[in-house]
Amino acid sequence: MHFKPSLRMTRRQFVTTATAGLTVASLRGQDLPAASATQAGPAGTSRVIIDTDPGVDDALALLLAMRSPELKIEGITAVAGNVPLELTLPNALRMVEIAGRADIPVAGGASRPLLRRLVTAAQVHGENGLGGTVFPEPKTRPIAQPAAELIRQIVRKYPREVTLMPIGPLTNIATAISIDPDLVSLVKGIVMMGGSLSGGNITPAAEFNVYVDPEAARIVFQSGIPITMVGLDVTRKTSLTDDHVRALESGQSPVSHAAAKIARNAIDHTRAQGFVVGPNMHDSLAIAAYLDPTILKFKDYYIDVETSGELTAGETLGYSPTAGDDRRLPGQEKQTIKMSIRGSAPTLASTRTSPVLRDQFLPNAKVAIDVDSGRFFDLLIGRLSGKQ
Ligand code: RIB
Ligand code: CA
Repeated sequence: MHFKPSLRMTRRQFVTTATAGLTVASLRGQDLPAASATQAGPAGTSRVIIDTDPGVDDALALLLAMRSPELKIEGITAVAGNVPLELTLPNALRMVEIAGRADIPVAGGASRPLLRRLVTAAQVHGENGLGGTVFPEPKTRPIAQPAAELIRQIVRKYPREVTLMPIGPLTNIATAISIDPDLVSLVKGIVMMGGSLSGGNITPAAEFNVYVDPEAARIVFQSGIPITMVGLDVTRKTSLTDDHVRALESGQSPVSHAAAKIARNAIDHTRAQGFVVGPNMHDSLAIAAYLDPTILKFKDYYIDVETSGELTAGETLGYSPTAGDDRRLPGQEKQTIKMSIRGSAPTLASTRTSPVLRDQFLPNAKVAIDVDSGRFFDLLIGRLSGKQ
């Protein structure tokens, strides 16, 4: 069952209907397709759309993507997140110009989350969103269509070929699903940076991208689109070092020099804040997960998103029948595993008598649970410096 909103809905009506409809789907144990970690194919054949809130690590991730011949970047869409849209959109355009890829259409998207006020991370990414690194005003203009419309057009032009790569809050992705619900069966998959099964980075519970727009995140996780989730569980193991900066400075291209400036300022900024390790390359790891999934180890989970917690909104909860190893006996791999997925205890005012939300395990995401950081940085620095 796919959620079918009407275009006349208000944002609140859309979110309420979407999450209710999708929750009914999960309550009925609808067949949310088992996750499959999508990955890049031969050069130039892997169509992707990158949705981004540049953002220091977004900027390096965009440069990595534009230096990766496997990717056919059909579009880049900007969303408010690390800094307001008025900055994330021109910052995306700056990266496109530095990479010499003004052929890629860039669209502006949501200036705020579906139902919440925008909370930014300017304290991390600097007032200009690039950690204080200054590049000229972009000459390249964004296209006229809004992000959700560009996503819809590209996915419909190439049905089942396009992988969406959100590396910021999921507002644009959720909006695209709302304006064209059939997209959930036309998108090849989602490879996202976001979420965490090991605690948050903006609150103890929530990772920033999901924290900013938990309602959008819930709609995406409940959509039925196969998801690869690259969360803090692995991105925390990717700290940029001075050696990485020196390797970028030794590169000969505008991409390498721009990346070196951004990286140097980012390391200096984190040191000035008292951190002993460099900034994490959250978003680049999501791009790398698509380029070479063997860098990471994945595990199937049913992921749902807390949207009403006063202290925990934005938390991604991972349900799996096996805490650690997979205890299914040989030949039982395809067997649906019985398990209770519980919500909070019902209040006295509630008509519900039991918090069991579903009674079987149907994964909706492949979650990255470990990473070979050395191989990741070999790929990232090698591509940005032009040595790979
Ligand atoms: O939590 C890390 C995520 O939040 C990254 O995408 C970073 O750019 C910020 O948006
Ligand atoms: Ca980001």
